Amino acid sequence: MAEAFNPPVTVAITGASGAQYGLRLIEALVQANHEVWVMVSKAALLVIATETDDELPPRPERQAEVLSQRFAAAPGQIRCFGREDWMAPVASGSGASTAMVICPCSTGTLSAVACGASNNLIERAADVALKERRTLVLVPRETPLSAIHLEHMLKLTQMGVVVMPAAPGFYHRPTSIDQLVDFIVARILNQLGIEQRLVPRWGDQPLP
Ligand SMILES: Cc1cc2nc3c(=O)[nH]c(=O)nc-3n(C[C@H](O)[C@H](O)[C@H](O)COP(=O)(O)O)c2cc1C
Repeated sequence: MAEAFNPPVTVAITGASGAQYGLRLIEALVQANHEVWVMVSKAALLVIATETDDELPPRPERQAEVLSQRFAAAPGQIRCFGREDWMAPVASGSGASTAMVICPCSTGTLSAVACGASNNLIERAADVALKERRTLVLVPRETPLSAIHLEHMLKLTQMGVVVMPAAPGFYHRPTSIDQLVDFIVARILNQLGIEQRLVPRWGDQPLP
């Protein structure tokens, strides 16, 4: 019998710095027994190779194998879709997941989502999330921000999108990069309403 997972969450990793955030998010969702639908942009493959000790292959089927092995996912728990896989469930309102996170989100993809470009599957899936009024979380990373970036973020926020820049706090006195990454991933999980134990909620534990 097929394994029963919690509802699918779509995670798109685009070519902004901070690939670790997206990869750790996939891991956390797998650990929370969610089905995870993954899209990785071409630029993100380069960023992953640059920033981490891992490389993801370009073919979505192989990506799913590599990610499943890395995060000890159950068979079928992680599904990966390609740039022009228009038959993927995320391409349509009738097949989309309950929530989508673009993490990290490049300013290019931010712009495309704000304008409804839908030129690749990540942009189309975000457009579907918008039109269906589903949870859409964007985690942009760029500094400093131009007026264009800020205008796009304002426009998307006014449409109900959660824009949460990858800006970890330091009040929990992090001593490792993993803790900084977990800070952001915990905030994303909070937005999705998924219980997390990566970082204590404010007020749950005294600060150091
Ligand atoms: C190593 C590396 C780091 C990058 N960092 C950022 C970044 O932090 N933010 C950003 O918006 N773009 C960044 N870029 C540029 C994007 O990858 C580029 O604009 C790309 O076209 C985005 O395409 P995508 O949105 O389809 O992934 C980076 C590129 C590379 C290779």
